[in-house]
Amino acid sequence: MQVLKDKIQAEGVVIQNSLLKVDSFLNHQLDPELMMKLGEEFALRFKNNKVTKVLTIESSGIAVAIMVGLALKVPVVFARKKKSAVCNDEVYSTTVYSFTKKESNYVTVSKELLATGENVMIIDDFLANGEAALGLTHIVEQAGANVVGIGIVIEKSFQPGAEKLKSAGYRVESLVRIKSFSNGQVNYV
Ligand code: G4P
Repeated sequence: MQVLKDKIQAEGVVIQNSLLKVDSFLNHQLDPELMMKLGEEFALRFKNNKVTKVLTIESSGIAVAIMVGLALKVPVVFARKKKSAVCNDEVYSTTVYSFTKKESNYVTVSKELLATGENVMIIDDFLANGEAALGLTHIVEQAGANVVGIGIVIEKSFQPGAEKLKSAGYRVESLVRIKSFSNGQVNYV
């Protein structure tokens, strides 16, 4: 998606040829107009899939997910990494290990918010090792719902996540796919 590549070119910072810092529009400050365009693009790609719910994980997936939900006119649920003070509901849960941050998160979604038979579209900002997205698929499956696909804003194709998800049978739609970083530059697939 050219508008996203242009934004990465203008504002992204490559760190140690392994990480892309996009705090100015995706991970810390948010660019609402760009978020809207990304949401519309995902909605277009999944318009024939009878999506009933968008599922993401806090925190950085939420901004894009809500734009997808707005475009598809369906609710958006975010999986929690921290316990809520008011949520005593029964939950679906899984553990997600972050290779990048070297920490495990116990991730939950209230059983009230995912029903059997729903068509769920999973959204996340980055796809690296695929643990977060895979964890979300486990939650959808615990609910007896269907994963119609996984929408990713920035896929780092040189890491194993995309292959892991595809070989598990999931449709992965990434808006940009990064082949490598070299000399502080981003090279796309
Ligand atoms: P995964 O997201 O595919 O499971 O892979 P990994 O375990 O490596 O990623 C863990 C966290 O690091 C995720 O954030 C992911 O978005 C983030 N991450 C991975 N690679 C990059 C990168 O190149 N740039 C940036 N900016 N982030 C990266 P998280 O723990 O879910 O945190 P949050 O930002 O959503 O709160």
